[in-house]
Amino acid sequence: MTEQMKIYTYPDPVLRSVCKPVENIDENIQKLIDSMAETMYAAPGIGLAATQVGVPIRLLVYDIHEEGDKRNLSVVINPEIVLAEDSIVFSEACLSVPDFSADVVRKARVKVKGVDREGNPLDIEAEDLEAVCLQHEIDHLNGVLYIDHISSLKRSLYKKKLKKMAK
Ligand code: NI
Repeated sequence: MTEQMKIYTYPDPVLRSVCKPVENIDENIQKLIDSMAETMYAAPGIGLAATQVGVPIRLLVYDIHEEGDKRNLSVVINPEIVLAEDSIVFSEACLSVPDFSADVVRKARVKVKGVDREGNPLDIEAEDLEAVCLQHEIDHLNGVLYIDHISSLKRSLYKKKLKKMAK
């Protein structure tokens, strides 16, 4: 049995954590991965970093396939971008930044190293949506949100919107 987890939202300070590397891929990590996957699919979202569920460790899950039968969960532990090239502009959203989206300039292609949930080395070559997703989730592990990459004017619009929603 897995359970859905609470997704922390901006401006919760946990989202600003610089996450620690995972040292042991133990049973607790396996459970966390399953719960994160369930939480991400239920949201629904295409990526989730551990820090978004309040666990500041370097772990992310993603699945850019929206249709059920094509779903294929990717788990990346201790990810590291080793190559990034060319630029792309993508309209991004985030489960931790509800009811908002904005264009962000990212790298169009990345190579990411890390390990999978069995501890096997990963060497991911990603482009377009997958590359953007990886950059977005790895940002989370460094306490960075996509709204940090947009203009302060656009960011202040979001803050105003949040204040209105809170009323
Ligand atoms: Ni996000």
